Amino acid sequence: VLEEKDALEAARCPHAASRAHSLDAIPGPTNWPLVGSLFELLRKGGLTRQHEALVDYHKKFGKIFRLKLGSFESVHIGAPCLLESLYRTEGSYPQRLEIKPWTAYRDMRDEAYGLLILEGKDWQRVRRAFQQKLMKPTEVVKLDRKINEVLEDFVSRIGKTNIGGKIEDLYFELNKWSFETICLVLYDKRFGLLQDKVNEEAMNFITAVKTVSMMSTFGLMMVTPVELHKSLNTKTWQDHTAAWDRIFSTAKVYIDKKLKRNSVIAPDDLIGDILHQSRLSKKELYAAITELQIGGVETTANSMLWAIFNLSRNPGAQRRLLEEIRTVVPPEQDPCGEHIKSMPYLKACLKESMRISPSVPFTSRTLDKDTVLGDYAIPKGTVLMINSHALGSSEDYFDDGKKFKPERWLREHGTINPFAHVPFGIGKRMCIGRRLAELQLQLAMCWLVRDFEIVATDNEPLDVIHSGLLVPNRELPVAFIKR
Ligand code: HEM
Repeated sequence: VLEEKDALEAARCPHAASRAHSLDAIPGPTNWPLVGSLFELLRKGGLTRQHEALVDYHKKFGKIFRLKLGSFESVHIGAPCLLESLYRTEGSYPQRLEIKPWTAYRDMRDEAYGLLILEGKDWQRVRRAFQQKLMKPTEVVKLDRKINEVLEDFVSRIGKTNIGGKIEDLYFELNKWSFETICLVLYDKRFGLLQDKVNEEAMNFITAVKTVSMMSTFGLMMVTPVELHKSLNTKTWQDHTAAWDRIFSTAKVYIDKKLKRNSVIAPDDLIGDILHQSRLSKKELYAAITELQIGGVETTANSMLWAIFNLSRNPGAQRRLLEEIRTVVPPEQDPCGEHIKSMPYLKACLKESMRISPSVPFTSRTLDKDTVLGDYAIPKGTVLMINSHALGSSEDYFDDGKKFKPERWLREHGTINPFAHVPFGIGKRMCIGRRLAELQLQLAMCWLVRDFEIVATDNEPLDVIHSGLLVPNRELPVAFIKR
């Protein structure tokens, strides 16, 4: 939730209309019968370039535009004042777009829904059970020991597997690191993904998580009717079902083990606390925990990948960060949650990296009531896309926006409208793993920068493509040189 203090500081919507126009008056690209703007989007590079097309459309049409792709129609917003209006009028149970392949699987197997797909009062109940622990900085900071346990192995692996400073398939290494961390937090279980030889159970588990995550964003079943796949029992449906079966069967084993342990819960066992104290059924717990795991793996790995890239291209910022680390963390100690509190430059580096290279380019809302946004009255049921990537890359809200300048986040350099930077979404449905992800990323940056100089191995531009998350189109040109 955007902190109240920040929200009050946010600029007022400059043009909240006294007489709002209808949905039809919202500008947008060519809207041909049946196809809408599909061909135009394909001409602009297709779905893998949609983040760039959205930036172009905002430049052309302004803060808000309408886009129809086949039968799917949405309204896109990319201005802090509109996000603020949405935030202030939000109801008790904001909705995101349904992930149909996931709900179809749960219905078929009679499993519950987790936070990513729940709606209404059930969503609120489950959210409350997890929110108190997971969104509270004083609780999340207790996880630093677990995060560090995995980081120690990760850093030593980087040192060992690095050939001339280069790491083969860095993105996969980061995915294994983030998977290992989230499993330790959720199940108290090390899967051994950072060892030289990874066991079969761990490999199958991480592959299954990757499979269902892809389905939720780019999968064939998001653009063709799920019911058709199910009734024809297509290969896509079979793979999807097998992946979910594997996730649920593995997760249940470890959740059951935690539930059976009646001994005193360790102070850093936030999940143990929730499992034992919430009134959620076992079925609800299984679904909620598996979705935390799915939400937390690639997003965190991807944000770390971009942080590494941005630091490699900005040696000045990296030097200043190293100085801060050396000032705050005594050489014989590991960086911990307590140290992070006194590291404003580290926090600024992460914010700036997530602004300039966000992982998730947009999130969605399905309006549950008629809502006025800026000049327009938008009816209930409309799908809104919140274009966080377009916001972060706009020169209107960030001077010199193409440059990596962590200083812009330090107070003495002026204030930034908090609704211009929303990499974790906004309002009641904001990412529930935000605090955990931030701590994990900040600690990882400390460990890596303290032990290695991250250098750029070329200075050619890096193309970004949308494949669910925003990813580089080639292996990251970086090397890790031991300090
Ligand atoms: C939701 C981003 C890490 C679990 C979201 C949303 C975004 C996001 C944009 C949608 C929010 C909205 O609609 O307003 C990220 C990024 C991460 C990250 C960039 C890492 C840097 C995590 C982690 C977890 C997690 C570590 C699990 C511990 C979830 C869940 C939701 C969610 C369960 C749905 C929340 C709800 O609807 O109540 N995330 N996330 N995420 N995320 Fe994350």
